[in-house]
Amino acid sequence: MSDMTNRTRFSLTGTNRFRWKGKRCWAAGGVGHFALQLAKWRGAHVIAVASGKNEALLRDLGADKFIDYTRQAPEDVVREVDLVVDGVGGPKSGRFLRTLKRGGTLFPIFSLGFEGADEARERGVTVSTTQVRSSGTQLEEIAPLLSDGTIKVVIDGTYLLEQASDAHARAEQGHIQGKIVLTVR
Ligand SMILES: NC(=O)c1ccc[n+]([C@@H]2O[C@H](COP(=O)([O-])OP(=O)(O)OC[C@H]3O[C@@H](n4cnc5c(N)ncnc54)[C@H](OP(=O)(O)O)[C@@H]3O)[C@@H](O)[C@H]2O)c1
Repeated sequence: MSDMTNRTRFSLTGTNRFRWKGKRCWAAGGVGHFALQLAKWRGAHVIAVASGKNEALLRDLGADKFIDYTRQAPEDVVREVDLVVDGVGGPKSGRFLRTLKRGGTLFPIFSLGFEGADEARERGVTVSTTQVRSSGTQLEEIAPLLSDGTIKVVIDGTYLLEQASDAHARAEQGHIQGKIVLTVR
């Protein structure tokens, strides 16, 4: 994380400081399906990126446009966006820098190994990240959105606590649709 050009908090509270309305951004995945819905809630135009099997789901959650990354590289076909939430992240996250406007923000969810600090500086793009942590204040803020259906939780599968190893095995396969739930009796 030391090579990040800038670090700011990105969270439900943090979204209050980002002027979403009319902004163009993109997101997909277990984390991304929440980012997509939060961005739509705030009035952004959202481009979702995932494999084709997720298109119907992501459009149903509000995506304005969908790109199947197995058919075309999103970084080759999108330009002038305000925010990229990269649900893959890692060393290759810098490929999205050229899709952003000057003044835009790249948010790799997994930021370790990021290699684009110099290019980000040249392009005038902020690179931000954070690590998830439990916050009662934020949960209080988000609870009404979950209760009234503004934000939906997509569940890939539900496992009993004693089946936790099966849940891990499913997670290791990757390409989960939404989240995995462990039930404690
Ligand atoms: N910073 C934090 O606090 C925090 C918190 C939670 C998770 N994470 C990290 O964030 C990452 C994402 O977690 P997640 O639970 O959202 O994972 P996930 O459910 O596997 O989501 C990854 C998404 O990326 C898509 N994808 C896969 N390969 C791609 C490619 N080459 N180009 C574009 N999109 C691609 C997948 O689409 P398909 O499924 O259709 O292939 C899926 O929608 C993980 O590395 C995780 O460790 C960080």
